[in-house]
Amino acid sequence: IDHLNDIQDFRTESLEQIEAFRIKYLGSKGLLKQLFAEFKEVEPSMKKEIGQSLNELRNAATEKVNELKNSIENSESGQKLYGDLTRPGEPIALGARHPISIVKNQIIDVFSRIGFTVSEGPEIEDDWHNFTALNLPEYHPARDMQDTFFIEKDPDILLRTHTSSVQVRYMESHKPPIRTVSPGRVFRNEDISARSHCIFHQIEGLYIDTDVSFADLKQTLLYFTKEMFGKSKIRLRPSYFPFTEPSAEVDIYWGLETETDYKITKGTGWLEIMGCGMVDPNVLKNANIDPEIYTGYAFGMGIERIAMLLYQIPDIRMFYENDIRFLKQFKSVI
Ligand code: PHE
Repeated sequence: IDHLNDIQDFRTESLEQIEAFRIKYLGSKGLLKQLFAEFKEVEPSMKKEIGQSLNELRNAATEKVNELKNSIENSESGQKLYGDLTRPGEPIALGARHPISIVKNQIIDVFSRIGFTVSEGPEIEDDWHNFTALNLPEYHPARDMQDTFFIEKDPDILLRTHTSSVQVRYMESHKPPIRTVSPGRVFRNEDISARSHCIFHQIEGLYIDTDVSFADLKQTLLYFTKEMFGKSKIRLRPSYFPFTEPSAEVDIYWGLETETDYKITKGTGWLEIMGCGMVDPNVLKNANIDPEIYTGYAFGMGIERIAMLLYQIPDIRMFYENDIRFLKQFKSVI
């Protein structure tokens, strides 16, 4: 009865106080919740009567909230505040996509136009998918090229050092022809500086079919650099990766038009953007693909590096600081 009187006597003209009232009586931790919980312990003979009063109480509180809200909306000042339907809406602040996502999506977009699918895999990998299947057996010196974060030893569980592991998984579960790009986060135990970080992103491509040649690789890379950077000159420098043979480093001709061009290319006009090569026959064998029938190419690049080039971002650490002044500068539809 006391509660009922309190509810009926309640008066206010403030929306905040109405809300406080609603929470007090009807909120998820409110009085009525509590009373209804206690109601379970009421003796059967009393249930009917008490149940009715509780319902009455709840209806009274609900009605009170509606009544007070209506009266505010209909009052003169309320009319000004809430009744003017031509009033502009509350602005909703729009977020922006992270530059890594923007560039990743752009790269995916370029490759999906020529038939590549997108594949992803786990960030925590086993030794087989990150190393051994990629022609890096135990004690292979090239394992030292990538400083690995180990989670467990014997059998080794680690944070993947490149997204090539996804390609192994993809080959194990798909029959050629294969055309896929694998974007994702990778981890290397490196000192953090303006140029390198222990966490970064890669995107790797894999193409396997009959009669795939180095010329196909080169043409695909040229298509990519034209679409992505609007630059139409590339060169391939011989290099070494355990999982490709032959292997190459891809440079694009960036030009020497501005002072920045001069600086970022160290006066040469050329910039290295990725590694690539023909998939080593051992890698195909490890994934049960017959190298007598199939050949393929693979390539891989760091997404941060590409984003830094496109947006002239001077320090890789800026990607992970989540400084709103930095993030706000990127607007994209993809
Ligand atoms: N996985 C290599 C790296 O992380 C890049 C690469 C991918 C090179 C595919 C060749 C072919 O450095």
